[in-house]
Amino acid sequence: IPLSLQRRVEGLLQEYLDRVQLNSGRDGHSSNDAKSTAVVEDASVDENHPDYFLDGSVMEKVLQRRSLQMRNTQRSWQESPEGRKMMDFRKSLPAFKEKERLLQAIARNQVIVISGETGCGKTTQLPQYILESEIESGRGAFCSIICTQPRRISAMSVADRVSAEKGEPLGESVGYKVRLEGVKGKNTHLLFCTSGILLRRLLSDRNLDGITHVFVDEIHERGMNEDFLLIVLKDLLTRRRDLRLILMSATLNAELFSNYFGGAPKIHIPGFTYPVREHFLEDVLEITGYKLSSFNQIDDYGQDKMWKTQKQLAPRKKKNQITTLVEDALNQSSFENYSARTRESLACWIPDCMGFNLIEAVLCHICRKERSGAVLVFMTGWEDISCLRDQLKAHPLLGDPNRVLLLTCHGSMATSEQKLIFDKPHPNIRKIVLATNMAEASITINDIVFVIDCGKAKETTYDALNNTPCLLPSWISQASARQRRGRAGRVQPGECYHLYPNCVYEAFAEYQLPELLRTPLNSLCLQIKSLEVGSIGEFLSAALQPPEPLAVQNAIEFLKMIGALDERENLTNLGKYLSMLPVDPKLGKMLIMGALFHCFDPILTVVSGLSSRDPFLLPQDKKDLAGTAKSRFSAKDYSDHMALVRAYEGWKDAEREGSAYEYCWRNFLSAQTLQAIHSLRKQFSYILRDAGIVDADAGSNNRLSHNQSLVRAIICSGLYPGIASVVHRETSMSFKTMDDGQVLLYANSVNARYQTIPYPWLVFGEKVKVNTVFIRDSTGVSDSILILLGGAISCGLQAGHLKMLGGYIDFFMDPSLAECYLKLKEELDKLLEKKLQDPTLDIHNEGK
Ligand code: CDP
Ligand code: MG
Repeated sequence: IPLSLQRRVEGLLQEYLDRVQLNSGRDGHSSNDAKSTAVVEDASVDENHPDYFLDGSVMEKVLQRRSLQMRNTQRSWQESPEGRKMMDFRKSLPAFKEKERLLQAIARNQVIVISGETGCGKTTQLPQYILESEIESGRGAFCSIICTQPRRISAMSVADRVSAEKGEPLGESVGYKVRLEGVKGKNTHLLFCTSGILLRRLLSDRNLDGITHVFVDEIHERGMNEDFLLIVLKDLLTRRRDLRLILMSATLNAELFSNYFGGAPKIHIPGFTYPVREHFLEDVLEITGYKLSSFNQIDDYGQDKMWKTQKQLAPRKKKNQITTLVEDALNQSSFENYSARTRESLACWIPDCMGFNLIEAVLCHICRKERSGAVLVFMTGWEDISCLRDQLKAHPLLGDPNRVLLLTCHGSMATSEQKLIFDKPHPNIRKIVLATNMAEASITINDIVFVIDCGKAKETTYDALNNTPCLLPSWISQASARQRRGRAGRVQPGECYHLYPNCVYEAFAEYQLPELLRTPLNSLCLQIKSLEVGSIGEFLSAALQPPEPLAVQNAIEFLKMIGALDERENLTNLGKYLSMLPVDPKLGKMLIMGALFHCFDPILTVVSGLSSRDPFLLPQDKKDLAGTAKSRFSAKDYSDHMALVRAYEGWKDAEREGSAYEYCWRNFLSAQTLQAIHSLRKQFSYILRDAGIVDADAGSNNRLSHNQSLVRAIICSGLYPGIASVVHRETSMSFKTMDDGQVLLYANSVNARYQTIPYPWLVFGEKVKVNTVFIRDSTGVSDSILILLGGAISCGLQAGHLKMLGGYIDFFMDPSLAECYLKLKEELDKLLEKKLQDPTLDIHNEGK
């Protein structure tokens, strides 16, 4: 066949493969070499044949030809010197010993549950074993494997690693796909993706046609998407008898998963890890010589941010009491005499109070007295990591700075940074990695010998009663603590320093609460709705551990309020659009409204800002200066969101003039976060373009971008029902949310600087409970805007809001405004409906 034609055929085939399941009825692994080769050699294709593209048997032959090519490529790599070297490494992994057993089990069972120590080769090896054995049996092109990861970064790094192991560039037979990004080609047969991506695919491709194997990795984390996936896959397995599902995890509650799938077989991969000596707080204090009494002087240390935050929330006099408590905790018998409540509060205090200094003391001890080997420090989140990093840089207590390699590992790090973590430095150099709990299981750093575990992780918990997400560092589970400890024994015996007493460890929960039970379910419910599987509550009751009915009810109410569901819980036109966009429904709505009202650009910045960290820095010692700098951007419009838009635009200008660095420095802005916002903007605009909501050049979407009142109104339309009423008293001002709850503004909100605010309402993106309920960024809006755009499109204002509006009810008595409201609502809905029916429709002309 001429090469060009062959390419064309292959292109068409790929499309076909994406839609049709070619290998139904075939059992997992037939390795009849001779037969498949014979068929391939016979695979001469008559390009003039009228049924060229339609004849299934021709298709089959072309696939066999491709399979043969794949086998040749694989064999020649395996026989090359680099390939051999790689193979030797792979053979040294514990998973290799189980290879045959695993392949057989996968061929014979529809579902299996695999557990094994982190680093034993589950993620990189098992999907590869299947692919290789299929390729070897001449069926490579017929197999299509998906392996999900809970995090983007692990999907990307694992795909990178596996393609290197196969001696191929990424995107050849191995690829990845994460939200808004991916490398995969028409010959990709093993795809690593986030669990969210697979869920989204399931929306449009219910049967996963063409997919032969699905791996769901890291299920022990019990992420919301994984739990959701399991419900959907369990149902799919009854329809796709040939589909194989493999569940994988490190520390495992295998019984639970196996039972969920009707007693699926469990396989454990015994690992080799070296013994790790464990030191709890009592030993740590002794080893490091860290004096509890020095804890009394902690706040002289100036830099100890954690302590400072705590200090604001607790009276100073408590400090001595805490010291006594810590001492008692170390002396277990008296600790047990305390009431549960005291114990709990003590448990909150220990690592936070001693946090940074103690970590530093342990690091000093390791650098000065211990053998060589890398150190992994588990901390709660990016903020603490960057704080400690700066502190360590400023006070080189660890000895010669040239002999310390300080790295960080967290969810939003760049790929280049990631590579450094895996590199083994010169033996004279001490590698120290400050990490979030990402390094617990998803990422394996081989040369770690020392682990410092602060015992906490930041997790979102969800208070269904108050319908408020809380983001607090909370204690990890015993399973996590064991997992953290295990990271030290990968290459040689290791040491683990837990910064909490043994008795606190004993009080940890055995496993962490599944995410489904601790986060708001808004996005999830919208997706369930678009799956058309009936009642949300009923669907979720099939979960491994179903969420509380109240949490489900809150999510449904929320979706009704933003106009994504109608009164009978059916998707509205807006809801249909929102379920297609891979973004939070609230942000999705703001973006759609921004595009419809021709002010897309500033809204894009607002949404990107809401999805990233705050670019406005707030250094402890320069709070006032930083606050003033920020308020310069708000030009009396009482809006953090508008301030962000201006700061971003100023930064773009400064960048063009080559003065971005100075600009950021002068205005207390984080260049890194602005950069992140910049790339999020691109990603969001790509999504919206993909959905046909904005044009390629976005010209007509920006006709009204300069209209500040309009932008403010669109911000309101997206943030509703996040509203608080501004209550002015004689000298003070307070804020109340719909449920009458009092909320506070974050210290660096521009609105926190005013004595009075000339707007009756503030709309806000999120409220977070950190002891008290705080709202982060806010924008002042008027009654009319709230009424016109708050719950617009298909629902209108909620009864609760009307009550809050009180005297303004007259507003609706004004026939022209009421008419305007109803008309706006109706027109928007009609427009979206038209667009849904005809995706090529130009809404910007229509919507004039
Ligand atoms: O999934 P599991 O934790 O069982 O292990 P894995 O991710 O498959 O990793 C197996 C081994 O591959 C690790 O122990 C590392 O030695 C190596 N690896 C690597 O060198 N670079 C990566 N990006 C990932 C894994
Ligand atoms: Mg893994």
